[in-house]
Amino acid sequence: MIRSAHREEAAAVSELAFRSKSHWPYTPEQLEVFRLELTISQAQLIEKRGHVFEGQGELLGFYTLAVLNESDVELEHIFVEPEALGRGIGSQLFDHACETARDSGAKVLVIQSDPNAAGFYHTLGATLVREIPSSIPGGSIPYFTYPLASPAEA
Ligand SMILES: CC(C)(COP(=O)(O)OP(=O)(O)OC[C@H]1O[C@@H](n2cnc3c(N)ncnc32)[C@H](O)[C@@H]1OP(=O)(O)O)[C@@H](O)C(=O)NCCC(=O)NCCS
Repeated sequence: MIRSAHREEAAAVSELAFRSKSHWPYTPEQLEVFRLELTISQAQLIEKRGHVFEGQGELLGFYTLAVLNESDVELEHIFVEPEALGRGIGSQLFDHACETARDSGAKVLVIQSDPNAAGFYHTLGATLVREIPSSIPGGSIPYFTYPLASPAEA
């Protein structure tokens, strides 16, 4: 159900990301601020290890990762289709992203969360480290970390 994304799926996942972000109560002006960061090129989708969740031939969600340094990888995008929310797809994508990051040798997953999604990361056991400035002027967003290595390996 979860597989590597194909480069031709870049436009489809970008549109999915925008629909998914629009599920939260943002104004059209605020959503336009996010459009650039939600638009993923074909090259980025491959470089950022994009993976999609497919159900009955439909793309229902995806994630991408960005390597920050030797130990940290950022969960850059994780989005589920609005009609498929609350069915466990997000947590399956999260677990898969952790495996992908772990396989590349990362020790910590970093998440700059949408404030509306903070409860999701909290439920999955991530640690809220601090608030950081949002793309929306004057706003802030939670910054989480999630350990990928066991304490003995870290
Ligand atoms: C955040 C998101 C990926 C979660 O996906 P999902 O498929 O709905 O999540 P799941 O069904 O796997 O939920 C897993 C657990 O997290 C909880 N959860 C999910 N979203 C939550 C939220 N927004 N607030 C609090 N808890 C949440 C669920 O209740 C569930 O808990 P349980 O295991 O105790 O039942 C999804 O809401 C989404 O795509 N949102 C819009 C885009 C977005 O904000 N993406 C994140 C960018 S940082």
